[in-house]
Amino acid sequence: MHHGKERILVIGASGQIGVELTLALRRLYGPGNVIASDLRGEHDLLKGTGPYVSLDVMNKEMLHVLVIRHHITQIYLLAAILSATGEKNPSLAWHINMQSLLNVLEIAKEESLHKVYWPSSIAVFGSNSPRENTPQHTVVEPATVYGISKFAGERWCEYYHRHYRVDVRSLRYPGLISYKSSPGGGTTDYAIEMFQDAVSYGHYQSYIAEDTPLPMMYMPDAIRATIELMEADALNITLHSAYNLAAVSFAPRDVAAEIRKTIPWFRVTYAPDYRQEIATTWPQSIDDSKAREDWDWKPEYDLARMTEDMLKHLNGQHVPDAKN
Ligand SMILES: NC(=O)c1ccc[n+]([C@@H]2O[C@H](COP(=O)([O-])OP(=O)(O)OC[C@H]3O[C@@H](n4cnc5c(N)ncnc54)[C@H](O)[C@@H]3O)[C@@H](O)[C@H]2O)c1
Repeated sequence: MHHGKERILVIGASGQIGVELTLALRRLYGPGNVIASDLRGEHDLLKGTGPYVSLDVMNKEMLHVLVIRHHITQIYLLAAILSATGEKNPSLAWHINMQSLLNVLEIAKEESLHKVYWPSSIAVFGSNSPRENTPQHTVVEPATVYGISKFAGERWCEYYHRHYRVDVRSLRYPGLISYKSSPGGGTTDYAIEMFQDAVSYGHYQSYIAEDTPLPMMYMPDAIRATIELMEADALNITLHSAYNLAAVSFAPRDVAAEIRKTIPWFRVTYAPDYRQEIATTWPQSIDDSKAREDWDWKPEYDLARMTEDMLKHLNGQHVPDAKN
């Protein structure tokens, strides 16, 4: 692949995934070839690392002009309303999540872009899907507006590939754990908050019940999966809807126990709220054999390795004079 010839636009670059993905793409394609954009301001970690433009992806004309002016060849669309936030304003979530994707797919078709990346989610699955090792192809009856929009989006991606040859690729991310950029209102954010509060206060109140396992992944794995999928030979990509993707599965009490190996006094109390209802409709673990077969996906981080890395970095951020 000729990295130097690609010009990439990242939409939603100031978000939890956007910041780390933009930095990774800049290392790979050269800082000047990766244009970061977002509705909100440029994230501090992006400052000075490459071009940034302010963009509302809902404004199709503005997006189109930007693509032409910057000679964009690939778009990574990360802007979205996430699961928990979406339940508070369903019509807004539907509107933003659908129209942003349709705007991008339409411009990709009109301008013959080389590739498009758009993430789906394990939220496409619902109560009637098999809960453990949820297969790639199975009953899909999402219960949240977020899940409905992701599933509809997957269908649109496949449609644009079949009818207009748009090379759009997608992953059904599990809950993503990271410490660099804050999470944006998802159901699995509890795990990030638990790490932060363990380090800051030694106590966390969880809105997910202690014994509810969910599929999760550490951000470095998610970034690597995204780039490996996008760099894979087009001939190997047999799915243009979205690939199941997995790394680890754990419940709140599992993370708490792992954190206690480093912070023995860490205490967790439980007060499940509306997000617990979302979590109980989602899978507990995911079968990602299709991703493993098609483009050799393999996760690197398990719960122990992730916890060690999270605590190391959060300690550095919160306690400047920590021993090491
Ligand atoms: N974080 C997770 O655990 C997770 C899991 C599964 C799927 N995903 C998907 O990954 C993508 C990125 O998620 P994230 O966690 O980084 O979300 P986030 O909320 O942290 O970031 C989204 C970014 O999009 C921006 N944005 C919102 N509306 C916009 C608009 N109209 N125009 C331009 N920018 C706009 C926001 O300002 C924000 O910076 C989303 O599609 C999300 O559904 C995330």
